[in-house]
Amino acid sequence: MMTETDPTAALDAVLRYHEASKHRAGGFAPGPGPVDWDGQPAAVRRYPGSYRLPLVASRVPPGPAGAMTLGRMLALSLGVTAWKVEGDDARPVRAVPSSGGLYPVEAHVIAGGVLGLTDGIWHYDPEAHGLELRAEAEVSPGLWVALSSVMGREAWKYGIRAFRYTQLDLGHAIGALANGAAAMGWPVAMLPPEGLGDLLQPGDGETPEILLSIGSSGAPAIRNARWQGGAEPVGAGLCDPWPELREVAAATAAPPGWGDPVPGAGVPRPKPQHLQARRSARRFTAKEPVPAGSLARILAALAPQNAPGGFWPFAPAVHAFAMIHKVEGVAPGLCLLPRGRGAPDLPGTAEPLLPGLVRLREGDLRRDARRLSCGQGIAAEGALCLSLVAETAPIAADPWRYRQLHWEAGLLGQRLYHAATAEGLGASGIGCFLDGEAAAFLGLDPARHAVLYHFAIGRARPDPALRDRPPDPPSDW
Ligand SMILES: Cc1cc2nc3c(=O)[nH]c(=O)nc-3n(C[C@H](O)[C@H](O)[C@H](O)COP(=O)(O)O)c2cc1C
Repeated sequence: MMTETDPTAALDAVLRYHEASKHRAGGFAPGPGPVDWDGQPAAVRRYPGSYRLPLVASRVPPGPAGAMTLGRMLALSLGVTAWKVEGDDARPVRAVPSSGGLYPVEAHVIAGGVLGLTDGIWHYDPEAHGLELRAEAEVSPGLWVALSSVMGREAWKYGIRAFRYTQLDLGHAIGALANGAAAMGWPVAMLPPEGLGDLLQPGDGETPEILLSIGSSGAPAIRNARWQGGAEPVGAGLCDPWPELREVAAATAAPPGWGDPVPGAGVPRPKPQHLQARRSARRFTAKEPVPAGSLARILAALAPQNAPGGFWPFAPAVHAFAMIHKVEGVAPGLCLLPRGRGAPDLPGTAEPLLPGLVRLREGDLRRDARRLSCGQGIAAEGALCLSLVAETAPIAADPWRYRQLHWEAGLLGQRLYHAATAEGLGASGIGCFLDGEAAAFLGLDPARHAVLYHFAIGRARPDPALRDRPPDPPSDW
């Protein structure tokens, strides 16, 4: 990745990008116009000619890392868990959500001395649930998952907003992998991606982003990599119409090092069935209100004392507004859950539902939630709609934080999906919101705080298109 080394120029690029990629009541951020369905890039990159290893997805008990347990971990975090069938169209539903279902995140496994895996660098194909051996190599003992992004997949449909969506998706993927690993009893640590480009040798249009060590410590040492198979193209050039995408990516390149993981609650061991049952609600029903206890537990998943910690090397910096619509015994209105430094300083009273939660006002906010979420019904129909925001000061001090704060918002989104699923409720990320209007509605000064993500939770209406099994036999694996 090209990096912008002048901090003033980097900050200018971030501010320019953020402004240019805002949706406004008067018009959406620049995009490609009518969607070119024939030009859609493949959702999974493939490496023809590489050795392929099918993985097992079925129940494998927690245990040491090996091909069997890794297969289970990847199935629970990034794998296909169901199918949506509409007419002739069948689409996989994965354990991780994605903006527009475009899946800009690719996962590469680095294995050294892992039972059942050749030492080297593998690529995970979620649709086939298998690994492609990209390079045999001498690897120091351990297991790592490296994440890279193909921003062109998002730019193809969403134009200039692609950087934001891609980074939110990465945050979701980090959360999904942390959960999948926790389900297998494995600790995770997030490592700075220094040297990741040399290590992964990504194909065109793909950017190395994140390195997670799974149950091991430190970065992998790799020697004598013997690459095989060639990366299929995935629509390089799709970001070109928006030079701001290249500029913001360069301005927010991760620094070579970051701090140790912050102390925190760690990742509680999730129930595999909750990881498998995660999906986005397309509609909600508001006939029955959601119990207050459910809301309290869902919001508690965001509370700073339950911050990821353990593996996440950044202090909490994303704060949550909750527009509460229909929750038993809780007055509709606006609440704020501050999550550490830089929280908006707004007058309110303690809301007894959860320690730390502040009631800002009462009132029916359904119309506002819909309007601010680009007119989407899911923001109004359910029990609540969240708006995740961050202070801009950390970005002014270090522009790369713009990327990192989107990861944090995505990570919180993944927590919300799982907390809602565990309560038997539905949820959906909402990347389409009116930036300035939402900030003004929440009482924020847009120069001091930025809105990063919206999120809806409620009782999901059953989706008749959902199937547990693929309609056809799986591909050529
Ligand atoms: C960052 C992000 C933004 C999203 N934005 C929206 C949105 O604005 N509206 C919506 O209906 N769904 C949104 N979704 C949900 C996706 O459409 C959904 O994850 C995708 O279609 C895959 O379906 P699944 O989550 O059921 O697996 C978003 C998801 C993510 C991760």
